[in-house]
Amino acid sequence: MRIIIPPIKSQGIKTKLVPWIRALVPNVTRRWIEPFLGTGVVAVNSGFRQALLSDSNPHIIRFYKYIQKGKITPSTVREYLESEGEKLRKAANNGYNHFTFIKNRFNREHDPLDFLFLTRAGFNGMMRFNQKGEWNIPFCQKPERFSKSYITKIVNQVHDVACLIQPEWIFLNKSFEAVIPEATEDDIIYCDPPYSGRYVDYYNGWTEDNEYRLFELLSTTRARFILSTWHHNDYRKNEMVHKYWRHFNIVTRDHFYHSGGKIENRRSIVEALVFNFPAYIQEHNHGIEPKLEQLVLCEEREKYITRQLNRAGVV
Ligand SMILES: C[S@@+](CC[C@H](N)C(=O)[O-])C[C@H]1O[C@@H](n2cnc3c(N)ncnc32)[C@H](O)[C@@H]1O
Repeated sequence: MRIIIPPIKSQGIKTKLVPWIRALVPNVTRRWIEPFLGTGVVAVNSGFRQALLSDSNPHIIRFYKYIQKGKITPSTVREYLESEGEKLRKAANNGYNHFTFIKNRFNREHDPLDFLFLTRAGFNGMMRFNQKGEWNIPFCQKPERFSKSYITKIVNQVHDVACLIQPEWIFLNKSFEAVIPEATEDDIIYCDPPYSGRYVDYYNGWTEDNEYRLFELLSTTRARFILSTWHHNDYRKNEMVHKYWRHFNIVTRDHFYHSGGKIENRRSIVEALVFNFPAYIQEHNHGIEPKLEQLVLCEEREKYITRQLNRAGVV
C-alpha cells in the first residue's frame, strides 16, 4: 500500500500506523469522521468520498481548506518556497533572521504558506504553540533547508493531498465534543487525541476530564469508532486503558523508536486501537502488511487537474 505523506509535519504523526488502522476499518457506507485531524495523514489515506474533519488547531484546518478551494496549489507552493527559501539562504545569522521574520509574520497574519514554511523549517519537524497561541518551535539551523529537491518533495506532497481531498469533505475548527455527536450509524469515527500525560501546548492540553468526556461520547455514539492510544511502554501502563477503554475491543502493536542516535537508546511503546465492532484482526502485532487495493490515485489526479483547469477557465 502506498501511503501518501502530507506536506505538514508534526510529532505524533501516524504514518506508520496507517495500514494497521485501514485494515481495521469496517465496511461503512457514509462518512469518515476525524475529530483530531493533526497532519491529516490518516484522513487522506482513508479512501472515503465523504468526510468530516476537525481539529482545535485553526492553522491546520485553514491550510487544508485553502488546498481544497485551490487557494494553495502545487505551483503557488513552489513559487513561495523558492522565494522564501532563497531569502533564508542569504539571511544574516545563518538564516535565523529570516526564520524569525516568517515566524513573526505568521504569528500576526496566520498565512497558511508561512505555516507550511514553519513546519518544514522548524526543529525536528515539530509543531508546538506557546500559551499565547504563537509558533514555538526553533529554527532547524539549516539555511539551505529549501533545496531544489526538498521543495519538489513538498510540492509533490501538496499535489498528492490535493488529489485526494474531495470537494465534499468538510473541515471544521471545533472541539471533539461538537463533532462526535454529528456521527450517524453509517459513519466511522477515527480518534487520535493527544496522549494524556504527554506534552502539552496551546492546542494540546489533554486531561483526564477530556479522556472521560471522549469515553462518554464514544460509548453512546451510534457510529462505529476506532481510537488510537498507547497501551504501555518500557516503564508504565496507560491507566486510561484500564479505567475506560477496556470495555471495548482492543488490539495492540509494538512500535520501536530511537530517542537519540545510539542503539542502546532504542525504546518501545505498545500502541493500541480501541474499537466498538467485531473484527477479524490479530490481537497483538498484526505485523503483516495487509494487501489493500491501491488508492485510485490516477483517477483522483485527473479529477483534480480538471477541477484546477475549470477554476482557471481553461476548459
Ligand atoms: C495526536 S494529534 C493527531 C495526530 C494525527 N492523527 C496525525 O497522524 O497527524 C492530536 C490532535 O488533536 C488536536 N486537539 C487537541 N485537543 C483537541 C480538542 N479538544 N478537540 C479537537 N482537537 C484537539 C491537536 O491540535 C492535534 O492536532
